[in-house]
Amino acid sequence: MNAGFIGIGRYTPEKIVTNADLEKVMDTSDEWIRTRTGIEERRIADDSIDTSDMAFFAAEKALIDSGISADELDMILVATVTPDQPFPSIACMLQEKLGATKAAAMDISAACAGFMYGVVTAKQFIETGAYKNVLVIGVEKLSKVTDWNDRNTAVLFGDGAGAAVIGPVSEGRGILSFELGADGTGGKHLYQDEYIIMNGREVFKFAVRQMGESSLNVLEKAGLSKEDVDFLIPHQANIRIMEASRERLDLPVEKMSKTVHKYGNTSAASIPISLVEEVEAGKIKDDDLIVMVGFGGGLTWGAIALRWGR
Ligand SMILES: CC(C)(COP(=O)(O)OP(=O)(O)OC[C@H]1O[C@@H](n2cnc3c(N)ncnc32)[C@H](O)[C@@H]1OP(=O)(O)O)[C@@H](O)C(=O)NCCC(=O)NCCS
Repeated sequence: MNAGFIGIGRYTPEKIVTNADLEKVMDTSDEWIRTRTGIEERRIADDSIDTSDMAFFAAEKALIDSGISADELDMILVATVTPDQPFPSIACMLQEKLGATKAAAMDISAACAGFMYGVVTAKQFIETGAYKNVLVIGVEKLSKVTDWNDRNTAVLFGDGAGAAVIGPVSEGRGILSFELGADGTGGKHLYQDEYIIMNGREVFKFAVRQMGESSLNVLEKAGLSKEDVDFLIPHQANIRIMEASRERLDLPVEKMSKTVHKYGNTSAASIPISLVEEVEAGKIKDDDLIVMVGFGGGLTWGAIALRWGR
């Protein structure tokens, strides 16, 4: 039995903060942000919307898209490093809000690679036959852990949520291979004290290396090569890192998802938000071979090769 994506949904806050808006409150420029990161604007949730609210909005859409009801969910996995509170988990809050009465629920902390960790965990439960439908969400309200006086980090991040119902799909489709990894020795390069602290250059070097390697590894594990790839969905941290991954796979520009200019780095939410946008834009079709790859604080990374379709 193959696990795959049977429904997807996203939520991004209404409020847009442009680079020009940031120029007014810190020593930065639209030109610096665009050329170094590719980011033009990001969404920021207002005080009335917390992480669990964004997760709920995205989850509702994914459930509608999947055609299954909340009481058919066996498990809820929420990847986030910005929960409303340490506990109860966002997953448990959603379990109640959605009415997913028989679902087990837990949060996953793997920073920007969190959605990949969630999808791969869901796959294990489904392919062993233990569970049928698992709701996986990547959600962050990074604005609440962003130091708005630190131009090194404040320009990079945004808020949002993306969700997917993972369940059994027809033969030949679904998640063909995966890779998850971690390197705790690099934890010092990206962490949260009160706010996000980052050694941008170290994270950059790690990301360029790992995104390319993990993408190639999942293809090899699936018995495929880079010529087979129809679409790449990289974690949307920085256009230069994303371009390096695309070049490792020898893919043309139009075969890589790019939403970083609109949303900045939304951490665990960036891959599922991008997935929803590409499917809605008609760029991903049934039987396309998709590679998704993410990296983040921890350090962590994760990738999957996926044959799209139910
Ligand atoms: C953060 C990042 C964009 C910086 O780009 P960079 O090309 O490495 O820039 P540098 O570190 O060389 O900094 C260049 C200069 O710009 C300055 N600078 C930093 N942020 C700035 C900003 N927002 N506006 C203007 N100048 C800025 C720095 O202070 C530095 O000045 P200095 O040379 O006088 O010291 C890049 O390192 C990066 O994207 N790293 C990965 C971050 C990431 O993906 N994090 C999330 C992981 S999930």
